[in-house]
Amino acid sequence: MCKKFFTISIDMRLDLSIRILISLSIALTFLGCSNEIDPYLEEHRPQFHFSPQSHWMNDPNGLVYYDGEYHLFYQYYPDSTVWGPMHWGHAISTDLIHWEHLPIALYPDELGYIFSGSAVIDWNNTSGLASDQYVHPPMIAIFTHHDPDGPKNERDDFQVQSIAYSLDKGRTWEKYTDNPVIPNSDIRDFRDPKVIWDEERSQWVLVLAAGDRIMFYTSQNLIDWNLVSEFGQGHGSQGRPWECPDLFPLSIDDSSVTKWVLIVSQGQEALNGGSGTQYFVGDWDGKNFTNLNDSTTVLWLDHGKDNYAGVTWSDVHKDDNRRLFIGWMSNWQYAQQVPTVSWRSAMTLPRELSLKTFEDHVRLISNPVREARSLRLSTTDLKTGILSTNTHLIDKNNQNNGLFEIEMRMDLNGDSGVELLLANSKGERVQFGYDVASGRYYIDRTFAGKSDFSKDYAGVHYSSSENNDVQVIDFKVYVDHSSIEIFAEQGRVAMTEIFFPTENFDQLSISSPQGQVELLEGRIHYLDRIW
Ligand code: FRU
Repeated sequence: MCKKFFTISIDMRLDLSIRILISLSIALTFLGCSNEIDPYLEEHRPQFHFSPQSHWMNDPNGLVYYDGEYHLFYQYYPDSTVWGPMHWGHAISTDLIHWEHLPIALYPDELGYIFSGSAVIDWNNTSGLASDQYVHPPMIAIFTHHDPDGPKNERDDFQVQSIAYSLDKGRTWEKYTDNPVIPNSDIRDFRDPKVIWDEERSQWVLVLAAGDRIMFYTSQNLIDWNLVSEFGQGHGSQGRPWECPDLFPLSIDDSSVTKWVLIVSQGQEALNGGSGTQYFVGDWDGKNFTNLNDSTTVLWLDHGKDNYAGVTWSDVHKDDNRRLFIGWMSNWQYAQQVPTVSWRSAMTLPRELSLKTFEDHVRLISNPVREARSLRLSTTDLKTGILSTNTHLIDKNNQNNGLFEIEMRMDLNGDSGVELLLANSKGERVQFGYDVASGRYYIDRTFAGKSDFSKDYAGVHYSSSENNDVQVIDFKVYVDHSSIEIFAEQGRVAMTEIFFPTENFDQLSISSPQGQVELLEGRIHYLDRIW
């Protein structure tokens, strides 16, 4: 209750932590609630990314927009900071940046835990789940019921697809009485249904992950589903199990030519190890998905280690027309060990996905949503020109809150690479940049603070190399207290990673080994917190 009354104004000239402490103690004394500390001021708490108030969170679920509200449901275990019986947690936002927590939407029941899934607005009440005089059309959640006794009893049919509905804008939920709507015929990994309305063919389409492939179902009423095809065996990266698919059309370069994108997360063997998300670009004819690329082509939606199980919002307002995405900012290799105390995990910044042609390849590009600009508190323009071998962009005397957006465009002038360094007074650091020799972007979090919680966490992580001849680099970078998101080449390469320094990173410098790099344009925006 009490924390609702805190207003923390951020003046970049004063040390933020001192201001926060003062504001906190004044507010607590005034309100007489000195035992309650704002959980969003805990060490490592993301300041402008979504994280649950407490306890365990993984995948985003049920992303849907209705009546001015973006809904974010998520895999949630309210009794612990490690994974357990899954519920759907719930939050809403009117701008994709500031979030309001709502009560848990779906609880485990006699059919099992509530695993990942999606939500749609059934505008024409095709399901018949609303009475004739409905105020709001049904908001329908389609999810996997996971029976925890199945694996214990060596059964393979323990994951089935079910639905629940809300007639009051997602505030209260009823499970459908005849669940499941898609039973299981002995497929061990059979989960994460994502439903879309296929406008051209007036049908509902459901994509489902089934081990090493995606299964496609169609329906007229969201209840009776027909299996129409499968895709994936032998295509792309084969790390298993495949999870959390999504399917949607996008125009190429904003033209009238449309292709379909199939997103597939995979639990193992991603680009930098552990879990990660790939995508395919192709055609959808109402029954079959055809891959536009050779089956051996592997395309990564994010090249860092910490963007998993991401999917896109359904029913975004017609005048908006954006394909909006959010991912879980962690990796199953160490998600349950990261050194946070009262909660675990955060989401990425919401991103807009588009298709763009690079030479003759069509690629999915990701960029932070434009609403993220509202986080900017103040901006510093950087001095353009040839950078010396080491230039301080934010030095240690600049009192700041460690929340930045960095925008830069640089000419490499030949074979020089470029590296940026985020640091704190303890010598902890994160380096990132572009390596000319291999044509790859990288993030090095080897010395980024706490790292001994998992052998799979520390290290240098590289993007895949597609364009070996980059001369002009554009970077957009978001730095929060425990994460970095890098968008390069207009979003063709996105890299997301988390870190756990013992003091916020509040210094930034840039270096180029040959001292040849020219800064064409550069800005640092100091950002606000959202909680
Ligand atoms: C992906 C995933 C999904 C599953 C959920 C369970 O991270 O494994 O496949 O539905 O998490 O929490």
